[in-house]
Amino acid sequence: MGKTLTEKILSSHLEEGCIEAGKPIGIHIDQTLTQDATGTMAYLQFESMGLDRIKNELAVSYVDHNTVQVGFENADDHRYLQSVAASKGIVFSRAGNGICHQVHLERFGAPGKTLLGSDSHTPTGGGLAMIAIGAGGLDVAVAMAGGPFHIISPKVVEIRLSGKLRPWVSAKDVILAVLEHFTVKGNVNCVFEYTGEGVKTLQVTDRATICNMGAECGVTTSLFPSDENTLAFLQAQGRAQDYVPLLADSDAVYDQLFELDLSVLEPLCACPHSPGNIARMKDFAGKKIDQVLIGSCTNSSYTDMKKVADILDGHTVSEHVSLGIAPGSREVLLMLASDGSLAKMIASGARILESACGFCIGNHQSPNTNGISLRTSNRNFEGRSGTKSGQLYLVSPESAALSAIAGTFVDPLGNHGIAYPQVSMPEKFIIDDRMFIFPPLDGSQVEIVRGPNIGNPPINTPLAKNLKGVVAIKVGDKITTDHIMPAGARLKYRSNIPEYSKYVFEPVDPLFPARAAKNRDAGVGNVIVAGASYGQGSSREHAAICPMFLGVKAVVAISIERIHQNNLCNFGIVPLTFKDEKDYLRISEGDELVIDDIVSQISTGTVVLTDKTANLAFSLDCHCTEDQKEMLLAGGLLNVLKGEK
Ligand code: F3S
Repeated sequence: MGKTLTEKILSSHLEEGCIEAGKPIGIHIDQTLTQDATGTMAYLQFESMGLDRIKNELAVSYVDHNTVQVGFENADDHRYLQSVAASKGIVFSRAGNGICHQVHLERFGAPGKTLLGSDSHTPTGGGLAMIAIGAGGLDVAVAMAGGPFHIISPKVVEIRLSGKLRPWVSAKDVILAVLEHFTVKGNVNCVFEYTGEGVKTLQVTDRATICNMGAECGVTTSLFPSDENTLAFLQAQGRAQDYVPLLADSDAVYDQLFELDLSVLEPLCACPHSPGNIARMKDFAGKKIDQVLIGSCTNSSYTDMKKVADILDGHTVSEHVSLGIAPGSREVLLMLASDGSLAKMIASGARILESACGFCIGNHQSPNTNGISLRTSNRNFEGRSGTKSGQLYLVSPESAALSAIAGTFVDPLGNHGIAYPQVSMPEKFIIDDRMFIFPPLDGSQVEIVRGPNIGNPPINTPLAKNLKGVVAIKVGDKITTDHIMPAGARLKYRSNIPEYSKYVFEPVDPLFPARAAKNRDAGVGNVIVAGASYGQGSSREHAAICPMFLGVKAVVAISIERIHQNNLCNFGIVPLTFKDEKDYLRISEGDELVIDDIVSQISTGTVVLTDKTANLAFSLDCHCTEDQKEMLLAGGLLNVLKGEK
């Protein structure tokens, strides 16, 4: 029986277990990446492992999230990241060099490699036929130390593409169509593998856009084959030596098939407040808008930006629209500057933003009250823009540019009078790696700079035999890591856990941190009760670390998202799910809870929780691997690693 491409890459990196859907495996990680918001904690954790140098092939530390410097905190973080990179053998990508996923695709990604990143959009690398997975910072630290990364061997879903996109329909519309079909739920432990004749009509940057937003479906990763378009991209990046052709066997057997005819797709958008809330652009044509933002790791490649420049050429941004454009990397920016595209953008009235995450993470460019904002990014959760009332629609760069000129939603296939921009992949990019700092061969003399914002990773205590606790908060469905640990103005505390913990659940219940800390100090364990898809969204492990710091011992939910479940285990918080979903309605905030002999119960996979206030007993699942159970008993992965030394 032939192999899927996913199986081929996984089996060439297999260190533990065997590849059979649903079974735990450990894989070797070739490359790692971090961004600054998750990187400080990842490197503090790596330091606490006591190694002089990284043990994997390549580690890159990007600064792209907290680039707006107000106060000392972010600048302190950057100093720490730069010095720890030099000390430990890590490549440092300075602020201004661009967004981690875009830059990594351009300069380091290579077919057939494994990449683990402390950012949930790491699967962008699947555009280059990599198994690229998002994870928590501690998992990345372990991979840098040469340890395997544990996943559940995935089901492989074949997405067979046929036909060719029409003008004005783009890769963003492909992934929005995939999201419409698969939705944001129910795809855990799957890989989306793209096959079929339609693949060759998509360039590497289109493929990267599609893989990037596969994260919104909740899959482990997405990937494309490596073919002549891959070679052309790598050649244009001066990296032809990294090319290897990679394809699934013709008789490969997949777990599921979804066929998508590219030629019938139309321009789509994701409506507030979920990337899975898909509609047609034509349904909103004529509806007034307030803001347009083009960029982010989803849509900031040179080809995307050049199309935008050509659409804007000779036009003026509508007087009631603010248009911001953030090219994804310094390379893209240099290309746009040299071919005249940047001048076209500026002439149109666009505001050129830094090559960084910026608006996507809510660092700036919040819309006006109730403002309608069209964005090319990948998430439109409530509050992600920095304001609660902003109405975010996720669209393609082409739809965004046309709408910015009109001041309304525009159906790109309608009668707008603007010629379609024909843009092809350049044969040669402007390559200038001076904004990377490559580490010295011997980093032993490098002083690691720790400003006052740089704390230590907090360590949990081993799990007590019996859990006596209280429901410290009860939340609903689809609670994102943005709800648990707000980004925007609070991001600067990422390296300072006691300070950042003051904002746990800030958008939901600002009184939670004080209440939880009081329970913790009184020796009462805090338990979070949640609905479906708890912890969806980003990979931020602070959504586990800060609750852990506040004495949260368990999360009891209808379902928990994959990366967040891993993060909970890494920090010794027990992830539990209701066997009977209706029990969610029977448990209330403030209820006193007991789990007798939780230590033995976890090992059986079923845990009985007694709600003393409601006088009820609930049966819960603990779906954890054996490694994760060991972590839970030890109080987290760092304790396990220390015990092993
Ligand atoms: Fe940055 Fe937004 Fe991507 S925060 S890494 S641009 S999802």
